[in-house]
Amino acid sequence: MKKYKSVTAFGPATVANVGCGYDIMGFAIQGPGDEVTVSLNENNATSLVELSGPYGHLIPGAREKNTASVAINCFLQTLGRSELNLRISLVKNMPLGSGMGSSASSSAAAVFAANELLGNPMSTMEIIPFAMEGERIACGAAHADNVAPSLLGGFVLIRSYNPLDIIEVKCPEDLFCAVVHPQLELHTADARRVLKMEITMGNAIKHSANTAGFMVALMKGEYALLSRSMQDLLAEPRRTQLIPGFDPIKENALKEGALGCGISGSGPSLFALCQGEKTAQHVARTIQQGFEAHGLQSETFVSALNAPGCSIINSIEV
Ligand code: HSE
Repeated sequence: MKKYKSVTAFGPATVANVGCGYDIMGFAIQGPGDEVTVSLNENNATSLVELSGPYGHLIPGAREKNTASVAINCFLQTLGRSELNLRISLVKNMPLGSGMGSSASSSAAAVFAANELLGNPMSTMEIIPFAMEGERIACGAAHADNVAPSLLGGFVLIRSYNPLDIIEVKCPEDLFCAVVHPQLELHTADARRVLKMEITMGNAIKHSANTAGFMVALMKGEYALLSRSMQDLLAEPRRTQLIPGFDPIKENALKEGALGCGISGSGPSLFALCQGEKTAQHVARTIQQGFEAHGLQSETFVSALNAPGCSIINSIEV
């Protein structure tokens, strides 16, 4: 077995909720993400997480507040290796409060790198709960719908939180996603605060019917069913007030060929599922123009749904 002095992992961005799966569905997207380097540094302990990248100056370096170090600390504690002095460097490429799983990219990459550094004592599935602890620090809720797809890649369903039961779902190859991130910061904790904590029986029935319909559609590649099922009765009705132009932008995206469109994670990014990459690119531009009409610049991303999860991008052997 190889022995490493240092390992760098990449954690991809993610789209959580996916319309009808509040807190229980998410998928990885190809392109954006954070990088974390974890090194064995027994003689020269650093108490802070080293931060760099375009957004590094905006996040805390203190170990008890940083999502990357919190995830690693929980991992080491469970392994009974808390005595290890790991040096942690985070390249923060993802904007904060974007709705693209920024904090999850950091905590997923961190625990993935630490696991590799220590010779993979756990499987990728087993390290998800540690990355979830990073989410708890970031927004007050240890939700898994960003960290699980960031770690595993592809589309995941969280069937249960207690006990954790995560299911990987293979998507049709021609299913693509457009994600558009407007220049606006919306913190998950704030976007969770606007939600209602109760749901009527009628809406619970509609919601579970849509979720079930969506999963069947994904697995069978039935796009008409996928379109019909992409209805968010839980988060979207309360959160659209936080996103300028949401209703007309969504309407246009659907008119221009999106199968479904909604808020990516807790927003303000929007996402649209589309058949084919070309349609996704067209819909991404449509959404971007919609934001522009509301005075917001934005960046666009287009990705297949079966995108890879965390990966090791560099390592130095002892
Ligand atoms: N399920 C979470 C929420 C995702 O909507 O609050 C946050 O990215």
